Amino acid sequence: MPLARSLSFTSLSGLEEWDEEFDREDAVLFEIAWEVANKVGGIYTVIQTKARLTCEEWGENYFLVGPYMESSVRTQVELIEPCNATLRRTIDKMNSSGCKVYFGRWLIEGSPYVILLDVGFTAWSLDRWKSELWENCGIGVPWFDREANDAVLFGFLTAWLLGEVCTQCDEPPHIVAHFHEWLAGLGLVLCRQRQLPVATIFTTHATLLGRYLCAGNVDFYNNLAEFNVDKEAGDRQIYHRYCLERAAARCAHVFTTVSQITAIEAEHLLKRKPDIVTPNGLNVKKFSAMHEFQNLHAQSKARIQEFVRGHFYGHLDFNLDKTVFLFIAGRYEFSNKGADIFLEALARLNYLLRVNHSDVTVIAFFIMPARTNNFNVETLKGQAVRKQLWDTAQTVKERFGKKLYESLLVGQLPDVSKMLDKEDFTMMKRAIFATQRQCLPPVCSHNMLEDSSDPILNCIRRIGLFNTAQDRVKVIFHPEFLSSTSPLLPMDYEEFVRGCHLGVFPSYYEPWGYTPAECTVMGIPSVSTNLSGFGCFMEEHIADPSAYGIYILDRRFRGVDESCNQLTSFLFQFCQQSRRQRIIQRNRTERLSDLLDWRYLGRATGFRYPRPASVPPSPAHSLHSSPHHSEAEDEEEPYDEDLEAEKDRVNIRQPFNMPNRNKNQTVGLPEKN
Ligand code: UDP
Ligand code: G6P
Ligand code: GLC
Repeated sequence: MPLARSLSFTSLSGLEEWDEEFDREDAVLFEIAWEVANKVGGIYTVIQTKARLTCEEWGENYFLVGPYMESSVRTQVELIEPCNATLRRTIDKMNSSGCKVYFGRWLIEGSPYVILLDVGFTAWSLDRWKSELWENCGIGVPWFDREANDAVLFGFLTAWLLGEVCTQCDEPPHIVAHFHEWLAGLGLVLCRQRQLPVATIFTTHATLLGRYLCAGNVDFYNNLAEFNVDKEAGDRQIYHRYCLERAAARCAHVFTTVSQITAIEAEHLLKRKPDIVTPNGLNVKKFSAMHEFQNLHAQSKARIQEFVRGHFYGHLDFNLDKTVFLFIAGRYEFSNKGADIFLEALARLNYLLRVNHSDVTVIAFFIMPARTNNFNVETLKGQAVRKQLWDTAQTVKERFGKKLYESLLVGQLPDVSKMLDKEDFTMMKRAIFATQRQCLPPVCSHNMLEDSSDPILNCIRRIGLFNTAQDRVKVIFHPEFLSSTSPLLPMDYEEFVRGCHLGVFPSYYEPWGYTPAECTVMGIPSVSTNLSGFGCFMEEHIADPSAYGIYILDRRFRGVDESCNQLTSFLFQFCQQSRRQRIIQRNRTERLSDLLDWRYLGRATGFRYPRPASVPPSPAHSLHSSPHHSEAEDEEEPYDEDLEAEKDRVNIRQPFNMPNRNKNQTVGLPEKN
């Protein structure tokens, strides 16, 4: 079988002389990924958030290698001269041989060095390199698979780069090359095939086959051991990609993945058990004021409310102060990301809120990029109408203020009935007339190119969530990643997350899942699942996750309908919380941040957060795991956040920054399960 040839480079060729404990001063780390300075999904987040710490550890000996993407480079990278003679010679050599290689600093925390390879510029080598790949590794890449063609170009270029670095050094340093995901994997395979003296690591953030099988509605986890992998890959026309991925996993000196669940998947589908599981972290920033994140929530929420005022103009018959914002975000993989069961649960929640005469309104945002040709007119009009109302109110206010001032100047109390004249009323009436609307507030903010076959829109049509006045649950599908320069919702993703109440990520296929992790460090509760790397990690490290606002949906041992009911009940319970309960819960969520900090991740083994002190010990009471408080408590009762936080803090010590902590000792209350 041809693949076998590509899988045979397993000896540590050229590395035998490495000391067991090599000196890092004398080692160079290259980290290679398609998402270096090129945002696609979570791999970008891995590399970007880890950069500061890696730069601190490796100093001038750390280089990220990625594709040259002009638009990203213009905004994110400062191009400079190579920082040392070896790299200068390497890059000059490659550029004089028909490549375009750039050197720069990526303008993120840590300012790491980046080497960017223009794959388009070397497209003339594609056929030759593909033949070489076929001859040496038996992998044939079809001409029409653009992504795989890019992977071939990127792979050959990275191997060329590393080979050239070795050649250009009089005494080559210890080189470690860390490759992420199949798109970068070929570079690793070629390093081994060419026997470069480079230690290689391959981290997979998913398996191609896993992603495809799950998206195709297969009972994946119950059949992991049974799949005929070659056939399944062939049936889905990804055999060549699968070969590239499997070859990289097989050839790497060290093979890693991001969660236990993906490790099992890799063992069955890539036929190699990962050597290490390396969970993903974040670059956690602590505010000096303990509750700054709560203030930020209030500020961002106010901006989302402004958007909602515009979007629902003419239909603002609900109380914004009693409106809960839910959201799902990420790459648009409808069922893998659980958008399907989220929509279904929203329909059930809508029913529950209606029959229970709840005064809570839910607005659920779907932030998942799809093909569009810009915002739709109705959505833009909504914001224009809101702006017009605002401007009218300001004008009338000014005129009113002027008259009031003049009256006071002559020592008279104003006659309030004369403060507004006919012109003011006309202006206000005109503004109110403009808010009349013949249609319902749109469920989608953009013109979709594939409107009639779009899975989210079709599901909305089927379940009938059309933003009518009777609906307690409204939906807004924003098929584009958020940006602070948007004319519609000018917020970046982080600000948006802060302003929401709950992130909902009921994924079926999710090797890690950054979105709920990001919610956690911002103190925003989230729903994830026991099929996601993040959900399993949190289950392992927290005694009562939902008490901390980490709702973990069971998608492993329940059928879809049952999981959907469980999600509905999470959402319904969440909607019944008072403001005070939400604030307490956010405090608890935020307190888990250290668990997800790159700095402490490695030390989390064996640690478990106990149930918070303020949750009653009886499971019956803590089922909801919402912070308990008596019915009689007034929602608006003054609430000392610091005091409440301190109560829990006594119990939940931050585990990782305490000096001389006994590793095996649990901190705080003993666990009660
Ligand atoms: N994201 C973003 N802008 C958005 C929505 C999402 O930058 O409007 C980012 C989010 O911060 C997260 C990433 O997209 O880091 C998604 O990563 P995740 O691991 O959840 O899923 P993936 O897309 O890699 O499968
Ligand atoms: C933060 C702010 C409070 C605000 C609250 C709103 O905690 O510090 O001032 O009242 O958010 O919370 P809610 O869950 O209703 O958005
Ligand atoms: C992949 C996975 C996602 C993970 C990310 C970073 O894109 O789909 O679950 O969080 O990589 O590891």
